[in-house]
Amino acid sequence: MKFFVDTADVEAIAELNALGMADGVTTNPSLIMKSGRDILEVTKEICEMIDGPVSAEVVALEAPAMIEEGRKLARIADNIAIKVPLTWDGLKACKVLSGEGHMVNVTLCFSANQALLAAKAGATFVSPFVGRLDDINIDGMDLIQDIRTIYDNYGFETQILAASIRNVNHMKEAALIGADVATAPPAVIKAMAGHVLTDKGLEGFMKDWAKTGQKIL
Ligand code: E4P
Repeated sequence: MKFFVDTADVEAIAELNALGMADGVTTNPSLIMKSGRDILEVTKEICEMIDGPVSAEVVALEAPAMIEEGRKLARIADNIAIKVPLTWDGLKACKVLSGEGHMVNVTLCFSANQALLAAKAGATFVSPFVGRLDDINIDGMDLIQDIRTIYDNYGFETQILAASIRNVNHMKEAALIGADVATAPPAVIKAMAGHVLTDKGLEGFMKDWAKTGQKIL
């Protein structure tokens, strides 16, 4: 499973990229707002750092303007994935932009039928929002499983990009189901390294090591 980093925080992306943990990046208008940066500038900086796809989201609501915004965002770098919302206009924009050879990430997906439409419209990625479904007491991982089944039934090449990932269990479950990508905040990716027994074990080793009075360096 590829890891995308769900942030516009350049320092956090750089840290994960140095470890090979950033196969791509996703941003959205809220993350751009949080960064306090200009969308074109910060997206360019991220694209120069990351080899993989960097999602940048349109903000127009009607297809013709979405297409124009998408084309402008795509001029930032070759690795831009244009993010469009899963609305009827977003699907129209997806069809045109993917037909022009751009990567398109169809976002705000909350149902299997929406994901089916995104694949038919030529999306490179579909982004089902797991955490936001969990927030309303619907199991977001069931949606990932349903989309996996449907895409595999028909051989759709659209990649399932599990989004709105909130915790390490989401990462594990997405990987078990076979999501192609999971996009997660840097803190969630780093938290995957943590385990209480690792901490406890290390503490024991350090205590015993101190008793030996030895040094390696
Ligand atoms: C995905 O592309 C979105 O940017 C993101 O995963 C949304 O996550 P949230 O529901 O935690 O805001």
